[in-house]
Amino acid sequence: MNERSFTPAAGRFAPVRLYDPVVALTRERLWRSLVAMHVAPRPEDVVVDVGCGTGSLAVLLKRVEPRATVIGVDPDPEALAVARRKAAAAVAAGTSASTSASTSASTSGGTPEWRTGMGDDLAAVVGAGTADTVVSSLVLHQCPVPMKRAVLAAMHETLRPGGKLVIADYGKQRTAAMRLAFRFVQLADGKADTQPNADGILPRLIAAAGFQDVRESETVATVTGSLSLYTARRP
Ligand SMILES: C[S@@+](CC[C@H](N)C(=O)[O-])C[C@H]1O[C@@H](n2cnc3c(N)ncnc32)[C@H](O)[C@@H]1O
Repeated sequence: MNERSFTPAAGRFAPVRLYDPVVALTRERLWRSLVAMHVAPRPEDVVVDVGCGTGSLAVLLKRVEPRATVIGVDPDPEALAVARRKAAAAVAAGTSASTSASTSASTSGGTPEWRTGMGDDLAAVVGAGTADTVVSSLVLHQCPVPMKRAVLAAMHETLRPGGKLVIADYGKQRTAAMRLAFRFVQLADGKADTQPNADGILPRLIAAAGFQDVRESETVATVTGSLSLYTARRP
């Protein structure tokens, strides 16, 4: 892989349209809800979702706080096309729900903004020091270690001082069952990029990028391995 290429959402061998049905098998509602709980978007917040893929997390965050600005960034136009359709459907569903409930307030609050870009270009794509929260799910395990470092550095640059980082990804695989389950992901995304995650590299890389208060706040066992939710702050 060269430094401008990336592994697509469903891995090296499967089309993007298979991504959503596959990720649904990973206790997705549970871990995405935990991510939303840690992001806890506020009305004035700018929240950037790095490697937003087909947009499920960005759409959820917009639903949690419609007044927040949510920006999804991904290098894959095909994934972003799915994200746009998903967001439009969520708005339509929200509008019809509020109409049928005879409420005047819209529950939709519009859709996330979508931008094309690589994670290591984040500060150029979104603006340095502009984000209150940077969030990313299931992205870093697909990146080579130098790219993991570069993405984390760009996330740090994009956050305002005091801003929050929330990362959900495959973390340290602590049991034989989880290591076995994670082999499915390693087959799809390649061992070279995924094994450092399974060995527990992410907290060290997050701290090395300049973040403070780095914590593994949650772990969720799934059929594809153990997901960890890391939180940290830009000092
Ligand atoms: C497994 S999908 C996860 C999508 C989404 N975040 C989610 O939770 O469903 C990984 C996504 O990361 C994107 N990606 C891969 N390498 C990237 C990089 N270096 N910078 C930004 N996004 C990247 C891919 O295009 C893909 O959409």
